[in-house]
This record gives sequence, C-alpha cells and structure tokens, in this order.
Amino acid sequence: MAEKAWNGVFDEATDRRVEEFTESVSFDRRLYAQDIEGSIAHARMLEKVGLISDGECQQIVQGLGEIRREIEQGRFQFRVELEDIHMHIERALIDRIGDTGRKLHTARSRNDQVATDMRLWVREAIGQTDSRLADLQRAYVGRCDGDMDVILPGYTHLQRAQPVLAPHYWLAYCEKLQRDRDRLADCRRRTNVLGLGAAAMAGTSLPIDRDAVAAWLGFDAVAANSLDVSSDRDFLLEFVFTLTLIAEHLSTWAEEWILWSTVEFSFLKLPQAFCTGSSIMPQKVNPDVLELIRGKTARVVGSLQTLLVLVKGLPLAYNRDLQEDKPPVFDAFDTVRASLEVAAPLVAGAELNREAILERLDRGHLDATTLMEYLIRRNVPQRTAHGLVGRLVRKALKRGVRLSDLPLSDFTEESPDLDERVYEVLGVERAVAAMTSYGSTGPEQVGRQIADWKVRLG
Ligand code: ARG
Repeated sequence: MAEKAWNGVFDEATDRRVEEFTESVSFDRRLYAQDIEGSIAHARMLEKVGLISDGECQQIVQGLGEIRREIEQGRFQFRVELEDIHMHIERALIDRIGDTGRKLHTARSRNDQVATDMRLWVREAIGQTDSRLADLQRAYVGRCDGDMDVILPGYTHLQRAQPVLAPHYWLAYCEKLQRDRDRLADCRRRTNVLGLGAAAMAGTSLPIDRDAVAAWLGFDAVAANSLDVSSDRDFLLEFVFTLTLIAEHLSTWAEEWILWSTVEFSFLKLPQAFCTGSSIMPQKVNPDVLELIRGKTARVVGSLQTLLVLVKGLPLAYNRDLQEDKPPVFDAFDTVRASLEVAAPLVAGAELNREAILERLDRGHLDATTLMEYLIRRNVPQRTAHGLVGRLVRKALKRGVRLSDLPLSDFTEESPDLDERVYEVLGVERAVAAMTSYGSTGPEQVGRQIADWKVRLG
C-alpha cells in the first residue's frame, strides 16, 4: 500500500481510478516555485517560534532549494499517486532529509497552503499582465504623433457619425486598458493577503507567527478569519474577471481592425508578418491573428463562467471542488498574455491608408453636427437647428453632394440670417478643428492627452 499522507485511519489502498480522478499535479505543478517559497517562509517561522531547531530549518530550506532545482532541470519525477504538487514536494523532502522533513507540515494544511500558493502566483501574474498592458498602451501612444495628420470617420451604430483624429482612436483604447490596469492594482490589494496559519480551517493551537511569514513573503496583510481563508477564491474571480475585460477590449479592437483592413473600408494595412495566407486563394492576406484574439476571448469568458459556477453554493470552508479553480485561472492568464504579446507589435506595425481614407472622408456628411452647433451659437434653438441641418443634408443627399457644395441660397432659404461665413465651418478638417471641449477630438485636446500619456507611461 503506497504511503499516503493520511493513511493512519485507512486500511484499504486507494483505487487507481480514484488516484487518477483526484490528482491535480498534472496542472498544479505549475505552482512549484510558489509552494517552495511558501514552505521556506513557513519553516523559518517554525524555527523562529521554536517548533523546529535552527539546524532542522537549515536542512529543510536546503532540501527545498535542491528540489526546486530538480524540478527546473526536468529531473523531478511526478507520480499521480502523490496527488498534488504539495504532496510531491513534501515527499521529496522527506526522501531527502528524513524525519526532519516530516516536521514541515506543522501548523499547516494543504488548504491554507494551496490558498497561499495561488495568492503568490496571482500576484506575479498580475504584475506580468500589467506590464504587457503598458507595452500595448505604449504601442498606441507611439503611433500618435505620426498619425496626427489623419482624420478618420467616427462611428455610432457603425454608421458614419463625426470626424475624429486617428490618435483619438488610439487613446480611447489606452483609456480602456488603463482601467484594466487599475482593476488589476485593486485586485492585487485583496490578493496580497497571507492565508498561511489558517491551517485546515480553524487555525492552530501551536504558537505560530503569521506576521513574520507575511513580511517574508511580501504580503501586505494577514487574513483575519481562518474559515474565510480556507474557502475564499474571490481573488481568483476578480483576477479572471479583469482578464475577461482585457480580452473583451482586445476583441472589440480586433473586430474594428478586421473591418478596417477589408477592401470595403481600406483604412488599414496590417503588417504581413502578422497575417496569414490561404492555401487555395493565392491573393489572400488574412487577419487571422486579429480573428484569434477575438476568438480566444470566448475561452477567457468560459474560464470566468467556470469559476463563477464552481464556487456557487459551496458551504464553508474548503471543499475539493476548489481544486478545479486552477485550470481556468491558468488558461485565462495564458490566453490573455498571448493575445497581448501579439497585439502590441500589430498596433505598432499597421499602416493607415491615408489616400483611401481621405478619398471617401467627405462622404456621410460628417460635418453636419458641427454645422448644427454653429447655428446654436447663432442663437437658433437646438431642436430647430437639428431639423434645419437635417433638411440641408436631405438636399445634399438628393443631389449626391457635400454640405459645402450646396449654394448659399439653400442655406439662406432655411435661415435668412445665414451668410457666406457658413462655409467656414463646413468640411471635415474644420469640424475636427472646431472641437474644443475637454476630452474631445480637437487637435489641441488630443495633443494634450498625448503629452499626458507620454508622461504616464514613462
Ligand atoms: N490539490 C488541492 C487543491 O488544489 C490541495 C488541497 C487539498 N486539500 C484537501 N483537504 N484535500 O485544492
């Protein structure tokens, strides 16, 4: 009968099918570094409070260091009967240093251990995600100065609405990604709390020092309720929710650029190194990378859904269901990381088709709203001005011309006190230039935002 950590009460060996069904080492081996880091801090604490001797602590710390190296060099043997990463490392330690290794699990349970490992892992993953988001923001900001000469149609309902500067688009995504970064920072506050010391779920009668462990592991606080530690997976849900929003933001951008790179839009040429071809149609250059960024979002949403359903209705404290939290968290992180990694060079490498954009920019009467605002400034009530411009657009549409092509008589017919000066507000460039409100697409406002972003992103 294989020696299990719990075998005292059992007189039957575990069925092989159960070992295979219940194992998690196939995926939680990814936590080996965090598990060892947590164990080293725990051992030092046991030594500090006198539960193990200085020599025993040294043996444990050294043994754990050797095990880490073995795992990193691919020399470590994983076996399903040892269930999870925690058991593997503990057993390897016992095999190496004997009875001293049997003291490491003093005042500890796998329940507070796994919670701590995951908190350490998520803390690191938050840092990595944040720096990749910053890289993507830098890619957008890096485009801005060079694209200040480009006016794009802005859309609502995917119908041409008002003209905007291309950098205004880029900075809109920077804002969204900044909120994601803020959410990550906020999630980190609740993640960076020490669980160790909660033991199984009631704490321990042994004289442990949780503050010392927290300080050594870089946690900002010590969790105040052992039942809560053992059952809490909120931090994982928050992290994956934030990853989901990042994926959603990337997905909307990907969709937009897929459209923009079509012949129908022709706004954008994607870098060929980030496109793929067709095996049958020789002329094709497809935006597969963008499509996969959009498509992989579904996986991230699925991971969030899995976690939400997983924790629903679990009574306190630890339940084995919680072992199932890891695959969706790891997959969501890996997926978003991969998407962010290709997004930044794609953003940096795409080229705007200035000529094609300009050629059709005066279609869609993008200056109509600015004309209406000009009338409002001349004391025409908004509703009246709206109707008046609407009628002028109808005339222009009928004749297939721009508002600026209408003769002055059309304007004066609508409003007798309009004169030649009306032409000074028409046209897409003027409509953009007229924008002055904070956060608008006017060149001065956008220029200020670009400068701000450069400072913020360093
Ligand atoms: N592999 C387990 C998990 O990931 C570790 C905790 C197991 N605890 C227990 N009492 N069986 O959740």
